[in-house]
Amino acid sequence: MKLPPSKPIELLSGNDTSGFQVEQVSLASIAEEFGTPCYVYSQSAIEAAWREFTTHLAPLSPMICFAVKANPNLAILNLLAGLGSGFDIVSGGELARVIAAGGSPNKVVFSGVGKSVAEIEFALHSSVFCFNVESEAELDRIHSVAHRLGVKAPVSLRVNPDVDAHTHPYIATGLKESKFGVAWENALELYEHASKMSHLTIKGVDCHIGSQITDLSPFGEALDRLLNLVERLTATGIHISHIDVGGGIGIQYQDEISPQMADYAKILIDRLRGRKEQLVLEPGRRIVGNAGLLLTRVEYTKTAGNKRFALVDAAMNDLMRPALYEAWHEVVAVKKEGNEQRFDIAGPVCESGDILARDRMLEVHEGSLLAILSAGAYGSSMSSNYNTRPRPAEVLIDGAKSSLIRSRETLSSLWEDEIIPK
Ligand SMILES: Cc1ncc(COP(=O)(O)O)c(C=O)c1O
Repeated sequence: MKLPPSKPIELLSGNDTSGFQVEQVSLASIAEEFGTPCYVYSQSAIEAAWREFTTHLAPLSPMICFAVKANPNLAILNLLAGLGSGFDIVSGGELARVIAAGGSPNKVVFSGVGKSVAEIEFALHSSVFCFNVESEAELDRIHSVAHRLGVKAPVSLRVNPDVDAHTHPYIATGLKESKFGVAWENALELYEHASKMSHLTIKGVDCHIGSQITDLSPFGEALDRLLNLVERLTATGIHISHIDVGGGIGIQYQDEISPQMADYAKILIDRLRGRKEQLVLEPGRRIVGNAGLLLTRVEYTKTAGNKRFALVDAAMNDLMRPALYEAWHEVVAVKKEGNEQRFDIAGPVCESGDILARDRMLEVHEGSLLAILSAGAYGSSMSSNYNTRPRPAEVLIDGAKSSLIRSRETLSSLWEDEIIPK
């Protein structure tokens, strides 16, 4: 069998004639029981990815805050909370999810450029670990809400270290002209401003330079800049207790080299060992990305000019990454059926951009099942109901056990909040 030697494949066992499985459950049986399209996650793959962080970074005893936006399913948050994870959130909704999933708010860092008054109040009432503040205006707002509530808000500034993460422009966040964070040149002044505010406690410094970063050097550059800032803060009498280096460590989707966790850890350990500040991390994709796949069934095949399409029952509303970032996902036929031919894998949504994968050699025909790999991060979480399509079911596999962790949306639920005026 000539599967590409890429990492996402490791999620699957079995072979192309008997059919693939996740852990001990065959994808064919999952499709039969839960229908398609369907997100399938492997619990052991999530746990293994989590352990990569805890093992390699053990010398620094970090606080690892899973970035909820990567995959906010309650069962996944609950699994991670059970492993000891904290959470990085970007909305009041994500905080409510963390609480509903059994996570502790006092291990939550609240990032995001547009926190509303209501979200700040909710976070203060919940006693989150820290706000990662992204502008002077937000700092003032957090202070005034904390003042009104008679509490002190724990804050870090998200500093924009102006390093190039060498990733897709839509997921690069650490450049000077990014909408995120506080400009590097203004950080010290803003910390001094914050230190004079009665209802703020300065806790740390924070940065997040982007996502799907496969060249590790920008992490070192960004941390060097943060440490330089920490030295200057200390010199002005501002002492911080943690350094949050954000998330962003990449995974293998295709043939990119997935950074080794040991190398990433070395960058952090070389710079932070022996320091008093606690390390905080906000990984998302690296924990769940390669632990999930989107299972879909071929509805039709069709040719148009020189193109051959496999029209599947998943679409850009279910998995947006290919349409949004021209992202590449490995696609595997669950079972080899017929001769290998070149296909574009397209969904039923009425957009020319609704192509999930281009130019793939696959043995499929009408009714075949395909697995779109590396879909555990920013897959389900970015899904929508465009074209009035119910979002997929989600299933978590643990050994031989498969648990439905999200029911397929029902049609009537899609319009239950809509009102026809009388
Ligand atoms: C502030 C912040 N932290 C963490 C993350 C997680 O990034 P990743 O999934 O690449 O680790 C993101 C993703 O956009 C983010 O915006």
